[in-house]
Amino acid sequence: MPNLLETVQSRAGTAPIRLGLILGSGLGHLAHAVDGVAIPYSDLPGFPHVGVSGHNPNLHIGMLEGVRVAVFGAREHYYENGNPSAMRPALELLKALGADQLIATNAAGSLRPDIKPGDLMLLNDHINFSGLNPLIGEKTDARFVPMTTAHDPDLRAALRAAAQAADVALPEGVYAWYSGPSFETPAEIRAIKILGGDAVGMSTVPEVILARFLGLRVSAISTITNMAAGMSNENISHEHTKAMAPLGAAKLEKILRRFLRGLAVTA
Ligand code: HPA
Repeated sequence: MPNLLETVQSRAGTAPIRLGLILGSGLGHLAHAVDGVAIPYSDLPGFPHVGVSGHNPNLHIGMLEGVRVAVFGAREHYYENGNPSAMRPALELLKALGADQLIATNAAGSLRPDIKPGDLMLLNDHINFSGLNPLIGEKTDARFVPMTTAHDPDLRAALRAAAQAADVALPEGVYAWYSGPSFETPAEIRAIKILGGDAVGMSTVPEVILARFLGLRVSAISTITNMAAGMSNENISHEHTKAMAPLGAAKLEKILRRFLRGLAVTA
């Protein structure tokens, strides 16, 4: 039985990957711009069996803006099977393919009146409101991961510069991970606000922890699909998330393409 790395390299080639990209709800479009191969997760041992509509469960490997990338078209969320480390095999693969950096994207609700549906937010930190951790059960001392600069300052600076060059606003804020799959109550949102959260969502934090554990530099961007519960009269639903995510996705794509072009000219 070939292992995961051999399976992927037999289809995508052995040239090293520089960067991984995880695409959130409604953001799958960019994966199809990758000039290379698309491997269904179902062909990849240990990969998540992703069941959330609006996601594209394929690993796309190839060139995007002159950079060899691995784009994960979908993620497994904790709320799907109760497994906070579901993305560990995928991120271990990314590392084994040679990548040293990861950009995660997601859909989120905003707690800040100045960050509205259709806007983006660069995560400058996060709050693990779920109390879960993907490293519970890990036996090595590597589990004691420092998280002080988990959201990599250099990557964030490069993403900010790319946003400026693309003329897209990219405010920064703190993302709070709430387990889902039910949305938050207005009281929970008020609590998260008091605790310092600027946006809330059901993903990304486990991946940031896993990425740091594996020694990958990581940064993440939210597309804001709604104001958080109790902050406006709009309805909050998964349908609404999928309908709104493309608004931010076009801006996100501009930033990521600029960012990658900048990366392409560095060794
Ligand atoms: N809460 C949690 N997750 C989300 C939201 C939200 O308001 N919007 C999109 N994903």
